[in-house]
Amino acid sequence: TSELLQWAVVGYLLGSIPFGLLLAKVMGLGNLREIGSGNIGATNVLRTGNKAAAALTLLFDAAKGAAAVLIARAYAGEDAAQIAALFAFLGHCFPIWLGFKGGKGVATFLGLWLALDWRVGVACCLSWLVAAAIWRISSVGALAAAALSTTWVLVLTNGQSFILGIILTLLIYWRHSTNVARIKAGTEPKIGKS
Ligand code: G3P
Repeated sequence: TSELLQWAVVGYLLGSIPFGLLLAKVMGLGNLREIGSGNIGATNVLRTGNKAAAALTLLFDAAKGAAAVLIARAYAGEDAAQIAALFAFLGHCFPIWLGFKGGKGVATFLGLWLALDWRVGVACCLSWLVAAAIWRISSVGALAAAALSTTWVLVLTNGQSFILGIILTLLIYWRHSTNVARIKAGTEPKIGKS
């Protein structure tokens, strides 16, 4: 158990690196908190108009989730990998460095699934892409990918990460509550618009 705790800490610390905020600052794009939704993720970085910065944010926020899983798995096996995955996600959403006010976890969610089970990861990425292509709304892609993720776990794997999948799905819906309200009101912006 103390070893799992250790992987929770490693996962949390990796996940808590706010790449979007850092990249926007370093690349001179301003303070993300004052742009668009105020969120620290790739979707909001794209609202600065800088596609490269948004792509890098997506890549790095996904990579930290994948890294947490791969490092924990290499040293301590599958249970540690799942704990590291959950805490990397929580680290992104509730980073100590930002007073626990972080992001919505979607890129990190995709990255950790790609590393936990690449088939689930690819299926979640495709779910995001199809929903986002139809509705042109990033949060709709995220909600679709989250909703479908547990189905993909059941269909494509032996189901050992099903509980983790449920927890992550609930957390993503909770983190997107303001987005859900805007979607219902018809005011959620299309991808790349503010
Ligand atoms: O990944 C976050 C995305 O689903 C919504 O971001 O900035 O539109 O709230 P945002």
